[in-house]
Amino acid sequence: MSPRRPQVRELLIRIDGDAKAPLGRQVEEQLREAIRCGRLAAGEQLPSTRMLANDLAVSRGVIARAYGQLAAEGYLAVRQGANPYVAPLLSQQAQTRAQPKENGRRWRFDLRPESPDLSQFPRRQWSRSLQCALKNASDRELGYIDRCGLPQLRRELSAYLARVRGADVDPDRVLITAGSTHTLTLIGRALLRQGQTRLAFENPSHCLLHTMVRRTGLEPTGIPVDDDGLVVDKLEQSDVKCVVVSPAHQFPLGVALAPERRMQLLEWAKRSDCILVEDDYDAEFRYDRPPAECLQALEPERVVYLGSASKSLAPALRLGWAILPSSLVEPVSAELHASTLLQPSLEQLAFADFLARGEFDRHVHKMRASYQRRRDLTITALQAELPELPLRGIAAGLNLIVELPGQEQEETALRNAAAAGIAVETVTRHTLAGYCGPRGLLISFAEISEPTIPHAIRSLAQALHGQSTE
Ligand SMILES: Cc1ncc(COP(=O)(O)O)c(C=O)c1O
Repeated sequence: MSPRRPQVRELLIRIDGDAKAPLGRQVEEQLREAIRCGRLAAGEQLPSTRMLANDLAVSRGVIARAYGQLAAEGYLAVRQGANPYVAPLLSQQAQTRAQPKENGRRWRFDLRPESPDLSQFPRRQWSRSLQCALKNASDRELGYIDRCGLPQLRRELSAYLARVRGADVDPDRVLITAGSTHTLTLIGRALLRQGQTRLAFENPSHCLLHTMVRRTGLEPTGIPVDDDGLVVDKLEQSDVKCVVVSPAHQFPLGVALAPERRMQLLEWAKRSDCILVEDDYDAEFRYDRPPAECLQALEPERVVYLGSASKSLAPALRLGWAILPSSLVEPVSAELHASTLLQPSLEQLAFADFLARGEFDRHVHKMRASYQRRRDLTITALQAELPELPLRGIAAGLNLIVELPGQEQEETALRNAAAAGIAVETVTRHTLAGYCGPRGLLISFAEISEPTIPHAIRSLAQALHGQSTE
């Protein structure tokens, strides 16, 4: 707990008697913003309702209602007969999220699809696994270990992936990497070495994957996606030898690959002697039913399976894994060896321990329920605040799409949201040449707390409608 601090006497709150927003809402929003961006620190005591009401020349009831709302959202702690103070937990999370991002900007609400809820990272359990790793690691395990990864982690992951994703997996074909983007880079380099020049992607798909692959020297080629997922007919006309797909939950459009498309895709791979790269980046989070088993289970010698801890635990762990067809184990692991020699062993041991103790299962289970609630709240708020805009995306993952008519509307919405201190991303950011599918804003509900969702979406709606949110 943060230590209790002295009462704040001076507080910059501006009341605009001519504004449309009621006085209480003006006080509430300015206090919330001050807590979110750290101007009011955890533990700081606010003035009494009487004092603040006097200062602002409003009634005590206005201040009491604003304090009450912020207490209900978890920003303030109130005690009988004492002044409210800034609650430690939510304010610390809010401040962590409001840290300057790469462009130095502080956002009121960051709705970009980046990380999972890092405030929920299971620090205690991970710390125990790390301590066990350090205590029990053999001297050999601190040396130049197998370039494919430590056998105990490959065994634990194999058991997990067979149990949860139905994967056809043998630990000898598992490679431990620094994440899916890293694995894709290694595959790209191996393909380039085999004489390939292009790699196909769903269009749209994550722009970071395109950038990474371009840097290997391969050219990303976009294949359209419709409501049933990748349009395999177009792939067949494209003359590529390898395609990256996200069958369980397409990023960013949020569709699942339909059963007949799955079969058509596997048939294409066999007939054309091609490789599929299955990016299973957030398959842990399906809310209405279990996700379809992974494609890799059906053609293990044609499909490379990519997994990552970035959505389930935290991107900064830099933990990823691949199940490779036997023909690719040597070329892809050789690329890993040529770039980093091997991956850090203590984290691998910790992750193996974390899996073996069932902590990964427990964490995913808990977060699935939490994200489902956040998704439901986000949808309810969007339908109430922006009823004219259709939503896209199956009940899965950590984000959804608010559809807009075109690219111009996307740009205006992005600009207006940014002006109101709200960070969002557009579908267009993730497109490749020739894209002519749906446009809209990507809205992540992963990093925003349940009580904040209605407020964030209301602010977004006001920004999109061109109203002031101050
Ligand atoms: C579609 C997609 N694939 C994969 C990843 C994971 O990348 P990495 O494991 O390198 O962090 C992400 C993360 O944002 C993603 O959005």
